[in-house]
Amino acid sequence: MRLRLCCVSTAGALCVLLLICGIALELTRVLQKLVNNTVKQQIVLENGTEAFSVWQNPPPPVYMQFYFFNLTNPAEVMSGDKPSVVQIGPYTYREYRPMEEVKFMDNGTRVAAINPKTYVFEPNMSRGSQDDLVRTVNIPAVTVMEKYKDSILARLISDLMKAKGVGVFETFRVGDLLWGYEDPLLKELHMLVPDDHFGLFYKKNGTEYDSYVLLTGKPDYQDFASIDEWNGQRSLNWWSSEECNMINGTDGASFHPIITKADRLYIFSSDLCRSLYVQYECDVSVQGVPGFRFVPPADVFSSPDINPDNAGFCVPPGHCLGSGLLNASVCKQGAPIIMSSPHFYQADQKFVDDIWGMKPIKEEHQTFADINPLTGIVLQGAKRVQVNVYLQQHSSFSQTGKIQTLVFPVMYINESAFIDEESAKKLHAVVLNANVVINIPFIVISVGILLGIIFIVLMCRQQMPPSTLAEREPLLSS
Ligand SMILES: *[C@@H]1O[C@H](CO)[C@@H](O)[C@H](O)[C@H]1NC(C)=O
Ligand SMILES: *[C@@H]1O[C@H](CO)[C@@H](O)[C@H](O)[C@H]1NC(C)=O
Ligand SMILES: *[C@@H]1O[C@H](CO)[C@@H](O)[C@H](O)[C@H]1NC(C)=O
Ligand SMILES: *[C@@H]1O[C@H](CO)[C@@H](O)[C@H](O)[C@H]1NC(C)=O
Ligand SMILES: *[C@@H]1O[C@H](CO)[C@@H](O)[C@H](O)[C@H]1NC(C)=O
Ligand SMILES: *[C@@H]1O[C@H](CO)[C@@H](O)[C@H](O)[C@H]1NC(C)=O
Repeated sequence: MRLRLCCVSTAGALCVLLLICGIALELTRVLQKLVNNTVKQQIVLENGTEAFSVWQNPPPPVYMQFYFFNLTNPAEVMSGDKPSVVQIGPYTYREYRPMEEVKFMDNGTRVAAINPKTYVFEPNMSRGSQDDLVRTVNIPAVTVMEKYKDSILARLISDLMKAKGVGVFETFRVGDLLWGYEDPLLKELHMLVPDDHFGLFYKKNGTEYDSYVLLTGKPDYQDFASIDEWNGQRSLNWWSSEECNMINGTDGASFHPIITKADRLYIFSSDLCRSLYVQYECDVSVQGVPGFRFVPPADVFSSPDINPDNAGFCVPPGHCLGSGLLNASVCKQGAPIIMSSPHFYQADQKFVDDIWGMKPIKEEHQTFADINPLTGIVLQGAKRVQVNVYLQQHSSFSQTGKIQTLVFPVMYINESAFIDEESAKKLHAVVLNANVVINIPFIVISVGILLGIIFIVLMCRQQMPPSTLAEREPLLSS
């Protein structure tokens, strides 16, 4: 009789607990939605929002690092041997990249802005100075040869190069190679070329800049900061399929809020001349703020026999170079530039083997973004791209000697940002508050369970006479 009462009250308590659990779970869902909706409303590009001021002038410092490959055996390479290179650098610049001339359009659904970048050398974070010398490919000369190899002018240009002592490999000042110098060959050919200056980042220090029209994230939060137009174009025209020519996603500096592990996040990189996507890799924590690491999967750069979607990146159509390489000639004024990941990471082994001194390492050479999933804010990230030159023999230019056909690495960039302490603190508070709100029902459940257990224990203890317990004890211990 007494035992029955204990059972009944236990069952009753369990029922109540189940009910509380059910309600609490439902409540969690509702609260999660509430938090998500609040975040979605806050993270739009709109005057006065925190997201807008962060987008306009990102507080975390951005650093652009350049690594060069110094060629040690030019004479041997000219006679057909394998090149041997030594990596030098980093040459580090602080990058300032504010969004300027911001104009809202179409009832606040789109925003136009220009994005001028300036670079200031940071000697403390560099190994070497801008006056260092680097021996590498003479890109203007190789470009001129590529352009005129089948022309009646080839002979004339070849003689001119001989007279001026211009070769395939030359030694340059690092600062010149980056920011521009007057090239003697281009100067001679000023009738044929628009500008007699060359530099890998020529005019990129404030003079020339990208202009964007972005979606603000209103009405659809998933469109936050996604690029609608780049330099007046809604798509590219360099590649040979419509999908490959699409300008997808953001510029990689910001992402939409409420990110899940299943998301495929698109990034358009004007340095790389294409869009790509990144996928969830693992959980991370940056300065105590939780994040998801997103990286481009190998598929993004693989050759079309592995990923048919990439056929459109083969130019001219059908001429594919293999996994991990992108012929960017069309987007670099006809210079025979091939883009890849640093040290040919994720590219065919052949390209690594072709050069002494290549050593791909995932941690050092992959592009990644650590993103806070609630807000879409990038906690830490690095964009890593290598610039290579396609070298080959031209019968019309004796300067090319007996050189092998090669994808020759010139330099790579590591453009990185790490969230500043103040932003991290702010974000930490936001994430913590959201967690507390979402977890209120769990706190209620926990308290409920605790009270239930106490209730059952009290009920059963009171109903059972001490003798029953005493009788049972020997049974248990035997
Ligand atoms: C802007 O909003 C107004 C009123 O809601 C509407 O009449 C107008 O068509 C909208 N314009 C655009 C470009 O969406
Ligand atoms: C870029 O421009 C800024 C300001 O105009 C200047 O301070 C800086 O030294 C320049 N950087 C280079 C690499 O020339
Ligand atoms: C760089 O080093 C110099 C001298 O050691 C120091 O005065 C300066 O504050 C440092 N700059 C930075 C940005 O750390
Ligand atoms: C690169 O190689 C050239 C030629 O051997 C040499 O003069 C130069 O000092 C090297 N650069 C660096 C930074 O080591
Ligand atoms: C752009 O996005 C579409 C889907 O929205 C996809 O089919 C296409 O392959 C993407 N293009 C690139 C270059 O990422
Ligand atoms: C790269 O593309 C350009 C332009 O379409 C083409 O002329 C060149 O032959 C291509 N290079 C290679 C190595 O396929």
